[in-house]
Amino acid sequence: EEARLRERSDALAAYQQQALAAFTLKLKTVYDNGETIYTGACQPCHGQNGHGDGTAASRLIIPAEDIAAIRADRDYIYGILKNGTPGSAMPYFRLYEREKLERLMDTLSQRFDMFAPPQKAPRRTGSQSFSIWANTCSVCHGIDGAVSPFGHTLLPAPPDLRAYSLTHERALAVIRNGYPGTVMPPFRAFPEAVLEELAAISNSFRTGR
Ligand code: HEC
Ligand code: HEC
Repeated sequence: EEARLRERSDALAAYQQQALAAFTLKLKTVYDNGETIYTGACQPCHGQNGHGDGTAASRLIIPAEDIAAIRADRDYIYGILKNGTPGSAMPYFRLYEREKLERLMDTLSQRFDMFAPPQKAPRRTGSQSFSIWANTCSVCHGIDGAVSPFGHTLLPAPPDLRAYSLTHERALAVIRNGYPGTVMPPFRAFPEAVLEELAAISNSFRTGR
């Protein structure tokens, strides 16, 4: 009788081993794979192509960023994922261990080229645009893009432009139209050439890492 039970238990053990292996594999795909993390945790707001048009996006007061347009330092994005963006619906993911966030950032890099080096300014910038930056934009962004003391009190606060930038097109759109639901105002009254230069200035602080 005892021998028969042992035989049965051995047979079951092998089966359990198999089940455990299958389960571990499933856990790996669900949680350790940047693609599946993106689909489950980011796509509802940021959309499949990152443009901020996911199924839950229409319910947001501050729109989800077009994350396909972000060009930033990897460790800065790690900080955003850890802490979220206070004052907006962008959640924090500090419950994910570092390894998972690294795999997610690999996906953000592959899909959107998020950690690409800064873009070169398309052309030289005139002094009029620099004085607009120094007199107006710097009140929140800081003269060197590093966020002014006042900017730090805002919710959401401006990003640190030394570590975070956008494609030229996207920066231009945010400057022209503002960022709804935040204090970033629209500057569409400026001439097109000035808007172009302000986008170039906004993208000039990042040295890239
Ligand atoms: C509930 C909706 C929601 C989810 C889910 C979400 N985000 Fe966001 N995200 C936002 C919003 C809203 C913003 C814009 C915040 C702002 O501009 O102030 C944002 C902004 C960002 C930014 C730019 C930082 C900033 O402050 O603008 C990055 C990078 C980002 N999200 C990445 C992600 C990633 C990666 C995931 C998945 C792990 C994710 N988000 C999940 C809503 C969401
Ligand atoms: C009253 C404060 C304030 C002023 C003045 C201001 N900004 Fe902003 N700006 C912000 C905030 C806050 C954000 C972040 C919006 C968000 O949460 O996405 C921002 C975002 C941006 C972004 C996009 C980065 C992103 O988050 O996607 C650019 C580019 C930018 N500002 C450029 C400018 C320029 C150029 C000027 C001057 C012509 C200017 N800003 C003036 C507060 C300000």
